[in-house]
Amino acid sequence: MIEWIQPAKRLLQGVLLMSLLSAGAAQAAPIDLIIDTDPGADDVVALLLAMASPDELKIRAITTVAGNVRLDKTSRNARLAREWGGREDIPVYAGAPKPLLRTPIYAANIHGEEGLPGVPVHEPKAGLAKGNAVQYLIDTLGKAKPDSITVAMLGPQTNLALALIQAPEITKGIKEVVVMGGAHFNGGNITPVAEFNLFADPEAAEVVLSSGVKLTYLPLDVTHKVLTSDARLTQLATVNNQASKLVVDILNAYIKTDMDHYGMPGGPVHDASVIAYLLKPELFKGRQIHMQVDSREGPTYGQTIADWHNTLEQPSNVMWIDSADAQGFFDLLSTRLARLK
Ligand code: RIB
Ligand code: CA
Repeated sequence: MIEWIQPAKRLLQGVLLMSLLSAGAAQAAPIDLIIDTDPGADDVVALLLAMASPDELKIRAITTVAGNVRLDKTSRNARLAREWGGREDIPVYAGAPKPLLRTPIYAANIHGEEGLPGVPVHEPKAGLAKGNAVQYLIDTLGKAKPDSITVAMLGPQTNLALALIQAPEITKGIKEVVVMGGAHFNGGNITPVAEFNLFADPEAAEVVLSSGVKLTYLPLDVTHKVLTSDARLTQLATVNNQASKLVVDILNAYIKTDMDHYGMPGGPVHDASVIAYLLKPELFKGRQIHMQVDSREGPTYGQTIADWHNTLEQPSNVMWIDSADAQGFFDLLSTRLARLK
């Protein structure tokens, strides 16, 4: 063997490895993001996590919808979260005051009359952006480069459904829709089979599902596995800034009902999992499956039928996330909250 071949091979391998590492280290372009939300205790945690992550998430706007509480309060709470996140640069557009068809329902029993348990609320200085969220979605997604904008849906899907009904061509501008919603393996939270965001507007969820956009669901199947604990709440509290104190106070007030109802050792932070998924998808696991939404009047209204074992052999239409690294989620949340004031 000619002596120089071995050292040359090692040198080449080293150069190759360095170029791969530097490519990997190169910052990926931030996700171009619109957050649609009904704050909501866990929505506020999600918004703070997102606002603390400007390198990965370019938040174009926050759009609000009626859900946990009425639209005027979800919109005020979105503006409050923006103030707490120090991000008044992000416009907040108010959207649909009620679902497409069904009688509105709310979750003040969980989120409190103001939609924000455990903390005092006030009228934030920075107001709403002019114009309605639905028109904002139509204009923005309609003008966007193909497959460029990600939409995070943290509440009932009414706004996006109305935009899709009025301007179906906006799907071109959508890269992906990531939804907190639905339930399969362990039943629902607002009925034995339905999760709140779907139950609050199943017709809207059907419009989004049938639009053909790339869709990822983070259902109760996963959010009920990412639970607080005394240690995790202490982990958040030791961040010891305003944002972490707000989150701990909100979560301490918010998780009681679920813990009592389900006898769980901790409470879920549903919506924040959507943002964590965008930031660190490697923390989550799921499967491409076929899913249907039941919008028939009756005991299964709002149920998501997730064909996890492909029994119907129908084409898949959603990435269904069913597990997560819960401690990894809280590590991410606490380190990001530390960036805020
Ligand atoms: O079922 C949980 C979902 O309903 C969360 O988005 C929570 O904020 C409520 O909107
Ligand atoms: Ca929500």
